[in-house]
Amino acid sequence: MSDLSPKRAKDTEVVMTQLILPPDANNLNAAFGGKVMEWIDICGAVAAQRHCRQVVVTASMDDLHFHAPIKVGWVALLHSRVLAAFRTSMEVGVTVHAENPLTGERTLTTSALMTFVAIDKDGKRVPVPPLLTETEAEEEAFKEAEARRAQRLARQKENQSWLKVMKPIAGA
Ligand SMILES: CC(C)(COP(=O)(O)OP(=O)(O)OC[C@H]1O[C@@H](n2cnc3c(N)ncnc32)[C@H](O)[C@@H]1OP(=O)(O)O)[C@@H](O)C(=O)NCCC(=O)NCCS
Repeated sequence: MSDLSPKRAKDTEVVMTQLILPPDANNLNAAFGGKVMEWIDICGAVAAQRHCRQVVVTASMDDLHFHAPIKVGWVALLHSRVLAAFRTSMEVGVTVHAENPLTGERTLTTSALMTFVAIDKDGKRVPVPPLLTETEAEEEAFKEAEARRAQRLARQKENQSWLKVMKPIAGA
């Protein structure tokens, strides 16, 4: 039986560090976006799992913005935390800062919002604990996440007509 007592938002925080090496880079000698997205997915999933202590799957990633590149040889600092918990899903915020290894200077390079859904060993969705917000900023972030969730689910239902033109080309 899973523990559904409220959990503190700050206890979900995850910090992950990656040194950008040539295999992680694009042809501009900066971190490849797809690699950064992979790290964001992992960092976000660990925060969600810390909250619910269940296996989670990624339902969506949105508001993904690459603000600045991260150079090869620099350090990517990923930071995630659960912003809101609903019935079986959680919204997680993830940021990536680039750290200059020689000066320690840090710059925000990427931010993203992710939704994870908790599942049991049979792949069935399971309820997650409520999120305990302790500061005004956490409370505000929770309310914003609730509003975003409503918009996200409405968008998912409404904006589907573009899928009609996405027929995979035979033999491609
Ligand atoms: C994500 C998934 C479990 C949702 O399943 P579903 O049948 O649509 O489930 P429901 O409609 O009952 O929704 C379950 C929860 O997911 C949320 N959800 C569903 N689709 C979503 C989406 N696109 N974005 C954000 N949240 C979503 C719902 O709001 C609901 O949240 P709540 O329980 O907190 O209210 C299902 O689509 C899935 O398994 N997708 C594949 C996941 C995957 O393989 N990820 C990549 C590897 S980890």
